[in-house]
Order: sequence, then structure tokens, then C-alpha cells
Amino acid sequence: MSGFVRKKFQGFTGYVPGFQPPDLGWIKLNTNENPFPPSPKIRKFLSSVDFSLLRKYPSPMGEPLRGTLSGKYSISQEKILVTNGSDEALALLFLALFEETDTVICPSLTYSLYPVLSGIYGGKIREISVDADFQFRLEDLESADGKAIIFANPNAPTGTYFSPEEIFSMAEKSSKLWIIDEAYADFADREKSSMLDYPERLNSAKNIVVIRTFSKSYSLAGARIGYLVSPDEEIMNALYALKDSYNEDYLSLMMGELALEDFVYYENNIRIIKEQRIFMKSEMEKMGFFVFPSQANFLLIRPHSLNAGAIMERLKDKKILVRHFNTQRLANYLRISIGSPEENRGLLDALEFIINGNK
Ligand SMILES: Cc1ncc(COP(=O)(O)O)c(C=O)c1O
Repeated sequence: MSGFVRKKFQGFTGYVPGFQPPDLGWIKLNTNENPFPPSPKIRKFLSSVDFSLLRKYPSPMGEPLRGTLSGKYSISQEKILVTNGSDEALALLFLALFEETDTVICPSLTYSLYPVLSGIYGGKIREISVDADFQFRLEDLESADGKAIIFANPNAPTGTYFSPEEIFSMAEKSSKLWIIDEAYADFADREKSSMLDYPERLNSAKNIVVIRTFSKSYSLAGARIGYLVSPDEEIMNALYALKDSYNEDYLSLMMGELALEDFVYYENNIRIIKEQRIFMKSEMEKMGFFVFPSQANFLLIRPHSLNAGAIMERLKDKKILVRHFNTQRLANYLRISIGSPEENRGLLDALEFIINGNK
């Protein structure tokens, strides 16, 4: 050991991302990416972009994307922060808000980055247990002692979901800060599935922070575009002061802007993914898997006979990637992203072979 690393980070275990294969030809259902390409408007932009513009720094305020988001959701610009993926928004929040001793409440099953961020920046995670269906109650989060509450809605890796009204009703009478990570909100079966669809309520709720990403519903995980919305001026001032001046690059700001302009294209993809979610759930149930109901672009499944880790390995041998979390609670589950209809068929055929092939 050289001893150069800060004591706190010697041997520190970071977030473990899903495997990204180095070559083509995989059916990749392990990181909840969107199976469809980004909008054709983005392809056109990238093929004709004036590359000399890369000479200049991008907008430190995340323009033009921030202005377009402001118009889309009727939320004033200073309440929006564009970030380098939503992971950066989450990291900035942990950095800006939590002393080492502050308690941050979350369900015992949720996005596994939160405890990592608390280890890096501050805050002590207090987990509220989930029931046998991996569901949790907002009341239980509220009644725990702590400064803030954080969870993904729809939740990961389970796909459980609360309507924005339910969250507003609980948060509006709470003295805690409610951080709602809406990475998968566009996949929920509701016309108004996001807290951002209720600008009037959100504008007056100083204790709510909403985090969004372009990685999932907008097919732009590789461009790293996220944003955060908070009506609390003090929080926003702190986040703007702490962020890297040029935290989002020019190309990504333009791609985000073009993605918002082409919502019709994305709406169609989201519709197909939701239809495939229903199809995949019923097909996997027919094969004997237990499949949790999901409002996200993935399904959490439990095999009834074979071991989940072994299925993951056998699928990998066939160049199909699904996610297996090697934790005590999730050891016998697999999280499978909804792919294109062809990819999903490929997965079902492979599962069928693994389960019945040797008979
Ligand atoms: C719940 C949740 N929040 C945030 C993220 C991070 O998304 P981004 O690509 O915007 O950093 C993910 C990624 O899988 C996620 O599952």
C-alpha cells in the first residue's frame, strides 16, 4: 500500500456497473438501456454538426437544453440543473446536502448507487424494509427519523411505483427532503407519470427534488444527460456553485434538446416497450418464473427451480446479458431489461432451451 489514498477511501468499493461487452452481437438486457436508437433528428445533427464549434466551451448553464426543459414543464430555468447523466445530479445532492451524521432514509431495495454516494460524500443510509412483494410504504419512510428520503420511482430493481399524487400528498406535509429519482417515470402506465407533470404543486413544494435522465426513455445513455429540478433556491444555488463549470458538453446539450423536440418518435418506442413488458411477463410466467409487476423498462424475475446465477451464466454463454445482483436478498433473482421484440424473442428461446433443452 503506497499510503497516498485518503484513509476513508483505502479499499473503498465503488458502484459496480453492469457488464458492457467490448464487441457486437450481444443481446444486452442488463443495464436497462433502450433497445431503439435515438431520434433520427439526432443522427442528422451528428452527421452535419459544425465540428469547429467544439473549439468553444459549452454553456455553463446547460443551454439550450435547460430553456427547452423549462418551457416543456412550465418550471422556471433557475429551478433546473442539467447534469452529466442523472448520476451526477445524485452525486451533487449528496455532496451539497449531507453532513457525515445526517440520516438519509431509503427503502432497503432501491438503486444501489445511493449507499455508495453516501460513502463518498456524506449521509448515513437508514434502510426501511420492504415486504415480501418487495413493496414499501411511503408512510414508513416518513415516520423514520432522518433528514431526507430518497428512492427511485418506479423503483429499481423491482419496478414498483407510486403515483405523483401519492408522493405529493405525503411529502407536502413532511419536514424532510424528498428526493425522487424518476429515471424510469416515462414507462409508468399513467398519462401524468412524473412529478414534473404537476408544475404548480411542485413549484410550491420546497422539500421535493426530482431527478430525471435521458438514458432510458430517450435512448441516450451514451450521451450522459440528466437533470434535477428543485424549487428551493438555496439548494439550487449550492448545486450550481459546486458543479463543474462545464459539466455537460456541447454535443450532449444539443442532443438532449433535439430529443425533446421529437417526443412523438419516443412515445412510439415507449409504447412498444410497454407492450413488450406485458408480453414478456406473461411468457416468462408460462415458463414457471415468478415475475414482479413492473412499471419500468425491466422485469425482476425469480426462477422456481434453477439457480438465478447459473441461468445468468448460461445466457452469457449464448451472448445474452441479464443482471444478477450478488446480494443475499437478490441472489435468486434476475433483472431483465425489456429489449426490442427480436431481442426479447431471442431471450425467451434461450430461456426455453436452458429450462427444457436437456430434457
Ligand atoms: C434508478 C436509477 N437512477 C439513475 C440512474 C442513472 O442514470 P444516468 O444514466 O442518467 O446516470 C439509473 C441507471 O441505471 C437508475 O437505475
